[in-house]
Amino acid sequence: MAHEVRGVVAMGKGKPVSLETIIVPDPGPGEALVKVQACGVCHTDLHYREGGINDDFPFLLGHEAAGVVEAVGPDVSDVAPGDFVILNWRAVCGSCRSCLRGRPQYCFATHNATQKMTLADGTPLSPALGIGAFTEKTLVAAGQCTKVDPAASPAAAGLLGCGVMAGLGAAVNTGAVSRGDSVAVIGCGGVGNAAIAGARLAGATTIIAVDVDDRKLDWARGIGATHTVNAGQADPVERIRELTGGFGADVVIDAVGRPETFKQAFYARDLAGTAVLVGVPTPEMTLELPLLDVFGRGGALKSSWYGDCLPSRDFPMLVSLYLQGRFDLDAFVTETIGLGDVEDAFAKMHHGAVLRSVVVL
Ligand SMILES: NC(=O)c1ccc[n+]([C@@H]2O[C@H](COP(=O)([O-])OP(=O)(O)OC[C@H]3O[C@@H](n4cnc5c(N)ncnc54)[C@H](O)[C@@H]3O)[C@@H](O)[C@H]2O)c1
Ligand SMILES: [Zn+2]
Ligand SMILES: [Zn+2]
Repeated sequence: MAHEVRGVVAMGKGKPVSLETIIVPDPGPGEALVKVQACGVCHTDLHYREGGINDDFPFLLGHEAAGVVEAVGPDVSDVAPGDFVILNWRAVCGSCRSCLRGRPQYCFATHNATQKMTLADGTPLSPALGIGAFTEKTLVAAGQCTKVDPAASPAAAGLLGCGVMAGLGAAVNTGAVSRGDSVAVIGCGGVGNAAIAGARLAGATTIIAVDVDDRKLDWARGIGATHTVNAGQADPVERIRELTGGFGADVVIDAVGRPETFKQAFYARDLAGTAVLVGVPTPEMTLELPLLDVFGRGGALKSSWYGDCLPSRDFPMLVSLYLQGRFDLDAFVTETIGLGDVEDAFAKMHHGAVLRSVVVL
């Protein structure tokens, strides 16, 4: 039996999203049908709508979600109907060259549902990041469901499914921030502020937030930044150096993903420091750097895919810290909205009015 639900679809490049009828198949082998309770609006959804990821329109958007498993395929044993889960886009395969080398966080063959969700006329949908959760029900691979404590609010927990995990993991996993480090974060949207929260959890003593929008800097201070820099008013590289004894930060995280912000991250590091790129660039962007500076400044230039997370390890741990009051996930939920409000939420994101708008169903 297929399920007829409503979903938020990007029908074509740059076109406003629309609410469409979606046909969701019953779960087959290895799949799970999830009743979505909440799904955050991430900048990556907007990248999809603008054709910045690929051209596989129509996209079923939404990928930062939590919900309850409604049904599972015949061979599925890890999750069961009734489980409260966060959806992830890293259901590791266990058998690719990276999994076999004990590095499943880089799995190159992650699982998604095999069957396609479609529009009412049968047109297959491309679910954003293999999830597609701006809809009442979605079909995913069972491994994309990570069971967590149901005491967590769905709106907050769902954010761990993408942006918050990506930012927090960029600091804690990729950047390996540890006690006493100085950290700077360029771009303080949901992702950058999560990097700030991660740096704080990891024991960084100096945490510098950089943004062009003072509202974002206010949020950053609330979440754990010790200093803020408005990059529209001061040179962030100079300010970060001043705030770190003239040297630069141990770890600088670029949560914008543009050539100029990555260059700032590159030069705002102390010698042998780490620059982490977590913001997603677009295809036309290129980077030019003096090779002597790459050599002479040493350290590491790293990209962070999904915060190098392992959902089964990291989601329950972060939910536990949240429920203990040690990690304020609620601070990332600026507003809750309905399925019909995603286009407005993109505009708010664009104007900097929100950290996260979260669709609640
Ligand atoms: N690597 C991953 O796995 C991963 C996962 C999720 C999201 N992302 C990416 O992370 C990026 C941030 O996502 P988000 O949801 O936080 O977006 P967002 O739009 O909410 O935040 C971006 C922030 O950057 C600020 N900004 C823009 N230009 C700037 C500049 N020149 N200097 C300083 N600040 C500047 C904006 O004011 C805004 O606060 C996006 O590119 C998104 O696609 C990456
Ligand atoms: Zn693998
Ligand atoms: Zn995302």
